[in-house]
Amino acid sequence: MKKVLTISIEQYADSAQLEPEDAKLLDKARQSTGDAYAPYSRFRVAAAVRLANGKILTGTNQENASYPAGICAERVVLSAASAVYPGAAVSALAVSYFHEGGTHSRPVSPCGICRQTLTEYELRSGKPIRIILSGYAGEVLILHSATDLLPLAFTSAELR
Ligand code: THU
Repeated sequence: MKKVLTISIEQYADSAQLEPEDAKLLDKARQSTGDAYAPYSRFRVAAAVRLANGKILTGTNQENASYPAGICAERVVLSAASAVYPGAAVSALAVSYFHEGGTHSRPVSPCGICRQTLTEYELRSGKPIRIILSGYAGEVLILHSATDLLPLAFTSAELR
């Protein structure tokens, strides 16, 4: 037996083609890259979430001289959202980055740990998270669910 998984991704040449709500969230993320603490990689990442209650929060990567202690922008903003508005569903998340001395026009690709974390936030609320991926400028990708970023995810169902 063969199982074929498909995901649907919207692709836009730039943010001018986005729906206003998406464009606003991505703009928040782009503006927030300046707040990142990334003295080691100089890869400044920012994520912005829109919650179901209408609130918008931003987070940035927080690096550390002990490299593994650093945390990605996506997990910073998800933790902040859950801490400040416990139980509020995340409707959308936009991620951007500015690579000092490098390129920043290719859409960012969230790391595996962030994909795992996003999946659990989505499952907690039971509502899909719209995921908007871009750089500081240029192409934008939109996915319709965190699970599209992580097929066959390990979830709490496995622990039952
Ligand atoms: N990083 C993020 O914050 N989010 C991503 O989606 C990719 C990577 C951070 C981790 C580290 O501080 C720096 O980018 C370089 O890996």
